[in-house]
Amino acid sequence: MSSFPSLPESEQEDAEYKNICNNHKHLLETLPKANGWRNRHLYNYNGFWLNPLVLKTNLLLHTYFKSHPTDIFLASFMKSGTTWLKALMFSTLNRHRYTFSDHYLHKHGPQSTFPLLDVETYPIPDFTTFSPPRLFATHSAHTLLPPSISSGKFVYVCRDPKDVLISKWMFMSKLRPKDLPPLSLDEAFELFCLGVSEFAPFWEHVLSYWRASLESPEKILFLKYEEVKKQPEVVVRKLAAFMGKPLTAEEEEKGVVGEIVKLCSFESLRNLEVNKKGVEKFGKLVEIEKRDFFRKGEIGDWKNYLSDEMKERIDGITNDKFRGSGLSLTATI
Ligand code: A3P
Repeated sequence: MSSFPSLPESEQEDAEYKNICNNHKHLLETLPKANGWRNRHLYNYNGFWLNPLVLKTNLLLHTYFKSHPTDIFLASFMKSGTTWLKALMFSTLNRHRYTFSDHYLHKHGPQSTFPLLDVETYPIPDFTTFSPPRLFATHSAHTLLPPSISSGKFVYVCRDPKDVLISKWMFMSKLRPKDLPPLSLDEAFELFCLGVSEFAPFWEHVLSYWRASLESPEKILFLKYEEVKKQPEVVVRKLAAFMGKPLTAEEEEKGVVGEIVKLCSFESLRNLEVNKKGVEKFGKLVEIEKRDFFRKGEIGDWKNYLSDEMKERIDGITNDKFRGSGLSLTATI
């Protein structure tokens, strides 16, 4: 037996937290740094560009996140359809809890249905009050996640990178503090192609989940925004089965799938009062107006912004990066 009494649990935690803070400080001083789209700087951590808050949360999640075998994670590169999938997953899973005329989504909108883990702060909540299966969202690449999360079940949604680029540029430009010069589309395009933006490179992000889905198809439901747009009913059925609550014949008869699709459609979500006026809090530090999550909701809006040359360059990168992987995102439109 050790002759030293061990530290009480709370002090051990504090010591661990201090270590994380020191490590975080050290990383910010030593990691490669580049211009951010919203923040002044991004840091390259294990191959992905993160802002300082997300980097710290990543360290915290590795130490403090307690997973449960029934947890389900929604993962996505920012602006790939996270809001939509949150609404679809939540309303599909909880279809017996709410009526479609008086739904949780009507009052609160999709963002608050379940937490985005990447911006939680210390102390990481234990989420034990959530009933299983617990739902969480993340924008982090699969390879960056702590094993307790990456070994879990995922719904991954990706989207044509040209639409992601335009959506992200517009979104980040709105959030960018006024003391930073505006980010032009040309600059954003160049950074995106170089793989520099929050949670990027885009292609390595998608591939991290694609490869994991090939290794464990039963653990990752891999979706494309364009496919959800074209066949939302098929996707709702896939989500229901994946989350362990397949649609029954009776529910099919009653048209439940159609109700879910209608409830979560771009038009109905965007027109909710709560999404026109409300502000969403992510963790304790990030606040974003809910209406900023609804812009056009279309496939191919990039055509209004990118030249032929820009299109060719992004498609070329996509084809190069995905060659041999069995994945294609350029033929989706
Ligand atoms: P656009 O900017 O191209 O319109 P995320 O939720 O990952 O931040 O992605 C946001 C993108 O999804 C935005 O794309 C937004 O308009 C679109 N979107 C939000 N809700 C949607 C819905 N219910 N159906 C389709 N697209 C939706």
